[in-house]
Amino acid sequence: MASVTSLSDSVHQRLAAALSAALPQAGSADPLLRRSDRADFQANGILALAKKEKANPRELAAQVVSRVESGDVIKDIEVSGPGFLNITITDRAITETLAARYADDTGRLGVPHAERPGTTVIDYAQPNVAKEMHVGHLRSAVIGDSVTQLLEFTGESVVRRHHIGDWGTQFGMLIQYLEEHPHELDHKADEVSGEEAMSNLDRIYKAARKLFDADEEFKTRARRRVVDLQAGEPRTLAMWQKFVDESKIYFFSVFEKLDMEIRDPDIVGESGYNDMLAETCRLLEESGVAVRSEGALCVFFDDIKGPDGKPVPLIVQKSDGGYGYAATDLSAIRDRVFTIKANTLLYVVDARQSLHFKMVFETARRAGWLNEDVKAVQLAFGTVLGKDGKPFKTREGETVRLVDLLDEAIDRASAVVREKAQDLSEEEIAERGTQVGIGAVKYADLSTSANRDYKFDLDQMVSLNGDTSVYLQYAYARIQSILRKAGEARPVAHPELNLHEAERALGLHADSFAATVAEAAAEYAPHKMTAYLYQLASHYTTFYDKCPVLKAESPEQIENRLFLCDITARTLHRGMALLGIRTPERL
Ligand code: ARG
Repeated sequence: MASVTSLSDSVHQRLAAALSAALPQAGSADPLLRRSDRADFQANGILALAKKEKANPRELAAQVVSRVESGDVIKDIEVSGPGFLNITITDRAITETLAARYADDTGRLGVPHAERPGTTVIDYAQPNVAKEMHVGHLRSAVIGDSVTQLLEFTGESVVRRHHIGDWGTQFGMLIQYLEEHPHELDHKADEVSGEEAMSNLDRIYKAARKLFDADEEFKTRARRRVVDLQAGEPRTLAMWQKFVDESKIYFFSVFEKLDMEIRDPDIVGESGYNDMLAETCRLLEESGVAVRSEGALCVFFDDIKGPDGKPVPLIVQKSDGGYGYAATDLSAIRDRVFTIKANTLLYVVDARQSLHFKMVFETARRAGWLNEDVKAVQLAFGTVLGKDGKPFKTREGETVRLVDLLDEAIDRASAVVREKAQDLSEEEIAERGTQVGIGAVKYADLSTSANRDYKFDLDQMVSLNGDTSVYLQYAYARIQSILRKAGEARPVAHPELNLHEAERALGLHADSFAATVAEAAAEYAPHKMTAYLYQLASHYTTFYDKCPVLKAESPEQIENRLFLCDITARTLHRGMALLGIRTPERL
């Protein structure tokens, strides 16, 4: 793999070397390099260092300047203010660095792998069996998919786990209900599949829930059914399996609509840990991490108390012997740590489950399953809000079905594509409409930092102006159209050419893609990638306004500008792919 040293890393290395030559006792001090408006970069680290070593900051800065190796990369370096360094890069270095990225035929644009990649288990896209997916399931899927792409791009081994809700009391309830009302399934689910079957199942689920809450005797029968299920009674198990299979067909159809690859072996639902539950409880009880309290097996925490001031425990086993959500998650941790041998467990789950995860992680730490070498993190996300700023509901006050929402986004986007379409067939409009619509939904979700709520506003999402995926997709498609129009002229880097200010700004930004990938992956922060790409497209727009491409002054300049166009396009394409968003060649 041809990894390329970025300009900021080159400058950093040179400054660090000059700094330790000027002040050997400082060791490997950080010059604190930033992009700057005044020059290309500014180093702010000298002030603090001088203070620490009781030196004069401006003098120290001057010594660094005199020792810095300049010429090939650094064109100018000067002391400014109380002891900052302003650094300007040579045009040649910008073009040569980008040319090296362009030459990387692995499609990685010269982005290196992380120094010490590990294994991460990511728990995301975890809908519930026998229930329709709603808007709340969108974020886990979209954020999880992007973080997976980002991590894999840095060389991390990523194991996906879709922890679907496929076990527990509700299935006893559902199975018992259908045993007692067999006709409800007969003429429906056997003939239809996918969305329609799921909508029937969802309806039956709600009817069963109603009966369960209203009728004590039914409740008892349903509870007995759960025991049958957990004991593996064949008829009960077969019915359960039918729901799971039916639901999975539906999940796959929704994920496909989301343009997301979810693989069957990665779906390990709550039922997958059934065999570990008793052992998990035994380990926790024997080690004293969990204690019996009023018959239930509980873990207590000093800092977690209810409104009445009494401690709220994590219940690992209920007093009737049943296991719940916590026992499953604790068992999943054992599996992920000891069998999969992960170093990081990442959970992309709604912030409303934060207390659950806090207690589960702390329990696992006390049990020694998590420690300095194995960490668990909840990537908690906020709520999707309607235009009114309240949790997103239909006009009737019901939760919004994810499929309906995606279909609407596709419709809106198709209208936008149709309006702008010049030479697209109906079929192409439909295809692009899907890519633009799904992209818009994903981008809007990813561009807000995960922990914040955001408003689901389709008008804003499919807008051509502003921080939207459509804007980026059009930027990409426009570049492709220029490259097509170039005819004989090819993109070729010419490091000997002087660059326009707008070319330098675009080039420096394109070069910082590698740093953005590293940061977005390390912080599980896809919104840093969206912000980067939006800036890239903005730099490109300025460049395109200021610098004629096909009508440039010389054949070399035409080639070099086509090269800048092409590397911008490739960076947009790669970055959008890391967000799970397509970049159509024509729009
Ligand atoms: N199925 C759950 C829900 O829809 C999310 C599961 C989260 N993952 C976990 N390991 N608990 O709320």
